[in-house]
Amino acid sequence: MDRFLIEGGVPLTGEVRVSGAKNSALPILAATLLADGPCRIEGVPDLRDIDTMLRILRTLGVRAERSADGTVETEVVDEAPCRAPYELVKTMRASICVLGPLLGRRRRAEVSFPGGCVIGPRPVDLHVAGLSALGAELRVEAGYILGDGRGIGGDREIYLGGPYGPTVTGTGNVLCAAVLARGTTIIQSAACEPEVQDLCRFLTALGAKIEGIGGPTLTVTGVERLQGARYRIIPDRIEAGTLLAAGAMTYGKVTVLGAEPRHLSAPLALLERRGVRVLRGAGGALTVHGYDRARPVDVVTLPYPGFPTDLQAQLMALLTVADGNSFVTEKIYPERFIHVAELQRMGAKIRKEGPTAIVEGVDHLSGCPVMASDLRASAALVLAGLGARGSTEVDRVYHIDRGYERIEEKLAALGARIRRVNPDRSPAPDS
Ligand code: EPU
Repeated sequence: MDRFLIEGGVPLTGEVRVSGAKNSALPILAATLLADGPCRIEGVPDLRDIDTMLRILRTLGVRAERSADGTVETEVVDEAPCRAPYELVKTMRASICVLGPLLGRRRRAEVSFPGGCVIGPRPVDLHVAGLSALGAELRVEAGYILGDGRGIGGDREIYLGGPYGPTVTGTGNVLCAAVLARGTTIIQSAACEPEVQDLCRFLTALGAKIEGIGGPTLTVTGVERLQGARYRIIPDRIEAGTLLAAGAMTYGKVTVLGAEPRHLSAPLALLERRGVRVLRGAGGALTVHGYDRARPVDVVTLPYPGFPTDLQAQLMALLTVADGNSFVTEKIYPERFIHVAELQRMGAKIRKEGPTAIVEGVDHLSGCPVMASDLRASAALVLAGLGARGSTEVDRVYHIDRGYERIEEKLAALGARIRRVNPDRSPAPDS
C-alpha cells in the first residue's frame, strides 16, 4: 500500500494549477447515459473515482475512453444493461449517480445499495423519495435498488430538503430522471452547489430545458430526446481550497491558477477575516500569503454558498496551529471528525462536543506516522505533515488518490519534501 513520507516545515512557494472538479465530473459522466450521440467531456481529473465511474458506464453499455489530456469521450452503444453491480458500487458511493439517468432514459435501473461510510451515515432516502415523487417505482431487494421508471412524467412538484439541507447527488438524480419526462417538474429545495449547476449546464448543452440554475427551485420541462455535446468541467473548488490551506499552513506563498473564486467565497472570506492574506489575480489566480499564525475562527459547515464540509478537515489542520481557540461545527455530516484522533497524535489539542470540535491552537505539530481514513481527512493529514516539525508518514494514501490528482507532484513542485513510497515495492524516486 502506498504511503507519503513528508518532511515538514518547508514554506511552500510557487504556482500550481487546479484540476477539474471530481464532484462535477462524476454526475456529468453518469448523465452521458441520457445522450443519443457521442459526448466529449474535457477537464476530467485523473482519479480513482473517475476510473470507477468509467468502469460502471462500460458495464452499462457505454463506450468510454479517456485520453491523457483529461478528455473523456463516451457513446452509448447498448441500451439494454441496467445493472450497476455491488463490486463497483461498494468502492464509491457516487455510483448512485447512475440511478436517475438509467430511470430517465432506460426506464429501468438496478443499482447496488451504497454501503456505509466512515464520515457517518449517508442515506439515500431523499433520492428514493424524489424519484418516487416523479413517478418511478422503487424497492430494495437483495442489496439492490430496483427501479421501474415507466410511470415517470406528468406535471410534478418535488421537495428535496432533508434534515441536513438539500442533497447534492439526490438533486442530480432527480434532474436526470426528469429531463426526458413528459411535462414539467419543479424541484424545490434543490442543492445549489457549483457541481449541481455544472450538471445543469451540461444537461442544457445536451438539449435539456432547465430554469433556475444556481437557485433552490429548478423547473425542468421535459424534452423528447437529448443529443451529444462537448463540455468542460469546472475547476475543483475543494482542491483549490486545500492547496491554499497548504500555503497558509506552511507560512508560504502559493498561487493557485485556474480556480473559480466565486465558488470559494465562504472559505476565502473566512481566511481573510482571520489574518490570512489572499490576493486575486487574472484568470482565477488566487495567492495565499501565510506570513503569520492564523487567528482562531468559529465556523459552521453548511450547504453552498456556506462553508463546505469537504474543506472542514483541511481547515481544522490549519486551526491546530492558530493563535487561540477555534470552534468547528459540522452541520452536514455531524460525525465527520475521523481526522481528529490522528491530528491529536501529532500534538493537536482538540476536544469534541457533539457536532463541534474545539481546537486549541498550539505552537507547532510534530510529525509521526498517521493513518488516512477518508479522502478529506487524508488531505488534512498531509497538510498537517507539511506544517509539522519532523517527519510524517501518511499510510493508506489510496484514499487521497480517490479525489486529488497527483497531489504529491503538485506539492513537490511547490517545494514540499514529500514522496510516495510503497514498502512492498522499491521506493519511488523523489517526486
Ligand atoms: N442525506 C439524507 N438523505 C439522502 C441524501 C442525503 O439524509 O437521501 C443527508 C446526508 O446524510 C448529509 C446531507 O444530507 O447529511 C447532505 O448529503 P448529500 O446528499 O448532499 O451528499 P452527497 O450528494 O452524497 C456530495 C459530495 C460529497 C459532499 C456532499 C456535501 C459527490 C460525489 N459527493 O455527496 O463529497 O461532502 O455532497 O456537499 O458529489 C467528498 O468529495 O469528499 C465528498 C464526500
